[in-house]
Amino acid sequence: MKRESIKSVLARPEAGGNVTVAGWARAVRAQKQVVFIQVNDGSCLVNLQLVVPQDHPQFEQLGRLSQGSGLKAQGRLTPSTGSGQSYELLVDSVEVYGEADPTSYPLQKKHHSLEFLRESVPHLRPRTRTFGAVLRVRNVLARAIHEFFQERGFLWAQTPIITASDCEGAGQMFRVSTLDPLNPPCLPEGGVDFGQDFFAKPAYLTVSGQLAGETMALALSNIYTFGPTFRAENSNTTRHLAEFWMVEPEAAFYDLQDNMDLAEDFLKHLFRTVLDQCQEDMAFFAEFVEKSAIETLESIVNSPFERVTYTEAIKLLEQSGQAFEYPVKWGMDIQTEHERYLAEKRMKRPVIITDYPKDIKAFYMRMNDDGKTVRGMDVVVPRLGEIIGGSQREERLDVLEARMAEMHIDPASYSWYLDTRRFGSVPHSGFGLGFERTVQFVTGMGNIRDVILYPRTPKSASMG
Ligand code: 4AD
Ligand code: MG
Repeated sequence: MKRESIKSVLARPEAGGNVTVAGWARAVRAQKQVVFIQVNDGSCLVNLQLVVPQDHPQFEQLGRLSQGSGLKAQGRLTPSTGSGQSYELLVDSVEVYGEADPTSYPLQKKHHSLEFLRESVPHLRPRTRTFGAVLRVRNVLARAIHEFFQERGFLWAQTPIITASDCEGAGQMFRVSTLDPLNPPCLPEGGVDFGQDFFAKPAYLTVSGQLAGETMALALSNIYTFGPTFRAENSNTTRHLAEFWMVEPEAAFYDLQDNMDLAEDFLKHLFRTVLDQCQEDMAFFAEFVEKSAIETLESIVNSPFERVTYTEAIKLLEQSGQAFEYPVKWGMDIQTEHERYLAEKRMKRPVIITDYPKDIKAFYMRMNDDGKTVRGMDVVVPRLGEIIGGSQREERLDVLEARMAEMHIDPASYSWYLDTRRFGSVPHSGFGLGFERTVQFVTGMGNIRDVILYPRTPKSASMG
């Protein structure tokens, strides 16, 4: 079927001509002499208004059309007399594909809360203005991610989703198994015999593609992953998902400075792209979701990020005079409230915090000469807190092995990883950007569950 997207119709330089569009009726207004139907096809935020005059053979039928109906319309593009849009479609014919029974269609004209949409009708959320705008911005961001790295010669790596290693060492992995949970094979000494499982050993959904990404970067220099990751983390917050997408660049011959520069350039590229390409949707977010949405992005792309060490950050927090829920002390993990204070109140811009105490970071981060801190970096942003976590990697075999022993990590199961340090080891660095956190930050949406098609969170994995 030939049809033109509503976005493209509305962008036409002039009215006139025969146009075919298709979409869903967002609103139907039947007056004595004319029926107005607002049609949306998802190509843009605004609707195209169909105008059905009284003498049209379908006048009666279309006046009874209900919100949500799917249709195709063909007609003449005319300048719009109403406010808000340039054109409307003076209808020749309308083909109604599927009606939406108004007595049972859950999306009615009234405002629905995000909670209602998420919990009761997640499969119909894409038909709302808010979710449509989120999904379009999400798409632009995904493309901008590839664009940024491809332009810089980074190769897109597809790392495995099923893995045996716990990259972050946090023990938050979902098990992948084909054993019968009611009757698993057991070892003589007790416990499940995973030797008889599908992979002949315990397997999990990956929490990060980093370790596999490192093996590729240590041959092809610059790579990035962009794919789903999973965390069986019992965090019921507005910033955590059990299934989320992550972007993980890994670059050989990069030190922490290079890594920070890459992260800053990357975020600025993403935000600039959204400001350029999603003007209509961003104006919607600024009006209905988060007043400062556009200003925040503009100010970020136009000024340098702040960079502080963990130790400096702790001093700033101690001097802040704020009553934090988690008391501030060197050695503690920096919490969201602290990150937000630093980025939102103190610096009023993104802050890169580096050189964390080794005890609160993963085994692969490069040890500093002080023996206490590692070359990790987190990028924290206003409203949200951590959006990126990364580090320079420990490339010295002996130091890495000592660190793993200290953390009770079995070197035998990481021997493939250690080979990258045994043979031609070089300095390298990388980071992970949470994709949903990025969409959340850009749009100003309050809950990460509202920026992904079907959120997976503790006790919730509906539909999809
Ligand atoms: O800080 P994280 O755990 O770092 C890593 O996984 C490293 N292996 C990355 C690397 O160096 N290649 O996670 C990176 C980012 C976080 O900063 C956050 O934005 C996002 O992933 N993230 C989550 N997003 C949504 N829900 C969760 N449960 C998340 N956990 C992490
Ligand atoms: Mg982190």
